[in-house]
Amino acid sequence: MRTPFIAGNWKMNLTKGEAKALAAAVAEKAKDLPGVEIGIIPAFVHIACAACAIKGKSSVGIGAQDVYFEKNGAFTGEVSAAMLTDLGVKYVLVGHSERRHVIGETDALLNKKLHAVIAAGLTVILCIGEKIEQRKANQTFNVCKTQLIEGLKGLDKSKAGQLVIAYEPVWAIGTGLNATKEQAQEVHAFVRDELVKIFDAPTAAGIRIQYGGSVKASNAVELLSQPDVDGALVGGASLKIDEFAGILAAAKK
Ligand code: PGA
Repeated sequence: MRTPFIAGNWKMNLTKGEAKALAAAVAEKAKDLPGVEIGIIPAFVHIACAACAIKGKSSVGIGAQDVYFEKNGAFTGEVSAAMLTDLGVKYVLVGHSERRHVIGETDALLNKKLHAVIAAGLTVILCIGEKIEQRKANQTFNVCKTQLIEGLKGLDKSKAGQLVIAYEPVWAIGTGLNATKEQAQEVHAFVRDELVKIFDAPTAAGIRIQYGGSVKASNAVELLSQPDVDGALVGGASLKIDEFAGILAAAKK
């Protein structure tokens, strides 16, 4: 039985005060939802204040939106996994589509980041997903397979407890146009089959696969009711507490 996992990716939004208030509000909502794992993923500069706002009061975990793979040194502007651990971070996004397609991160770089996060003892949320032209060209499975194989290269199955996959079709992110529950389930089942090949069946059965891309309170129930949809990675709707609370409630099975 996989525990549903809902994470809010705040992206490059919010002031410090807003981040603190939103973290506290999520922590309050989380009190009624013991069976749901909940994460909030602020910008680097807001991690410390968000963590402080909920410290000792909540099981809500804090995530980071990115990481650099080196341990320390002359890498101006970058943040290491050890620094994130020090701040109390639990999850790190690796390979979000905005990093792949806006910043230009490659599968090879993302694989190094994944290993740095795992080595630090944190949980990786590895994001994968196809662009609209790739879906139209029937390349969805190929794209997801390549991103999985390259992203997970060298990861031992003994570390799979530190791994979450987020399937986020690029065309659904921030567009208001979510994948249908059938489209999501089809890809999630494919991803799980690939995880069986990469690891083995019992390992694959334990890995959570989140769906991301225009998840809202109004579509969360149907998406989360799919057998291989184990949670959601939420962008825009995670910035509005009532919307996010609706998604959290939908995850309570
Ligand atoms: P969205 O973003 O919910 O705003 O579509 C999802 C994401 O980018 O993780």
